[in-house]
Amino acid sequence: MTFFDNDSVRLDLLRQRAYNYRWAVHPTDVIPLTAADPDFAVAPQITEALVRHATDGYHSYGPPRGLPEFREAIADWYTRTKLSPTDAAHVLPVNSAAGGLFIAARAILGPGDNAIIPDPVDFLFRRSIEAAGGTVRTCPLPEDSAEFDLDALTSLIDDRTRAIFICNPHNPRGRMLSAAHLRALLTLAERHGLWLISDEIWADISYTTPFVSVLDRALPVYPKTIVVSGLSKNFALAAMRIGYLIARTAEITTQLFEASQHASTAAGIPVLSQVAGTAALTSCDAWLGDFREHLAARRAQTLAFIAQMPFLAPVDTNATYLAFPRLVGVQDSAESFVARVLAESRVALVPGGRDWFEAGSEGHLRICFATSEEILKVAFDRITCALPKLAI
Ligand SMILES: Cc1ncc(COP(=O)(O)O)c(C=O)c1O
Repeated sequence: MTFFDNDSVRLDLLRQRAYNYRWAVHPTDVIPLTAADPDFAVAPQITEALVRHATDGYHSYGPPRGLPEFREAIADWYTRTKLSPTDAAHVLPVNSAAGGLFIAARAILGPGDNAIIPDPVDFLFRRSIEAAGGTVRTCPLPEDSAEFDLDALTSLIDDRTRAIFICNPHNPRGRMLSAAHLRALLTLAERHGLWLISDEIWADISYTTPFVSVLDRALPVYPKTIVVSGLSKNFALAAMRIGYLIARTAEITTQLFEASQHASTAAGIPVLSQVAGTAALTSCDAWLGDFREHLAARRAQTLAFIAQMPFLAPVDTNATYLAFPRLVGVQDSAESFVARVLAESRVALVPGGRDWFEAGSEGHLRICFATSEEILKVAFDRITCALPKLAI
């Protein structure tokens, strides 16, 4: 048995624990290919570290800026695996990448400010900017790309624009930004004095070409760059609510720390989560390599399925465990089409639409393929069998 075969998927536990549109919120006959959360248990090294720490029985307050060993592990992870030399003093552990986006937005935006985000993109981008009192400006991405049209982007900038948010690799499109595009964005941001906020939570899930971070050593160093990331996607640790921010200077790290409210102890990241995170980043490279190998095969399986479906336009991806095909010849909204797929095939998918991935995502659906080969096959077979009833 490997960590990623069918027998390793514990449906009994997932049905109790996997919320957020997944197994625990559906009847038992439904297969959810919904929220981006793997169907697999974490690496044994993470479980061992958690058990060791919990067995000692001490759960005292942790340091407001995060455990030093976790900050070191994050800095080393970026330095080692992303070729992005990172100082632990510029790292702030936070309780999830979602929380990191909210903290970054709060640190840099005030009422009346605006920030530019891609369309489509995960709803967390809009929510974090609006929660900080800012206004969102969406920049439509060209079809099948995660990169902005730079002229369209520039035309959105005015004297109240403070930031450009990017998602790299991109959820939902499953594509990465090139080094050349990142270089152009850094230059543009510097020319207009804007912050560049890069959500890189998907950075460890790439296939055909290596991921390039905005902090890559070959790119210009621009102080107003902030990376947001987490361990839900690469190490399956969503329940731990664990993430981090990386800044370029000590002053900006302090600005983020103040916006985080960690000093008050009303907010912060549980020590046990940081113990899990430290184990993940220091001792689970082999597990992650196997996970990526498994996902590469599931990506091929998913893209082949999409290519055969008459109601889906073929797509290509090079990162994430998501695919986001366009609906072809479907009259109803993505939301009602996905509801019909669920009713007819008992497979749950995520619809495009403004509330999920901005307005430009209407007419698409998202498939998460971080499950076993067999579960994916059953789900795809069921949709194929339901085709006549989907009446396209
Ligand atoms: C781009 C992006 N950012 C942030 C998150 C949230 O991650 P976390 O579980 O760390 O809050 C997700 C989850 O799907 C995501 O896709």
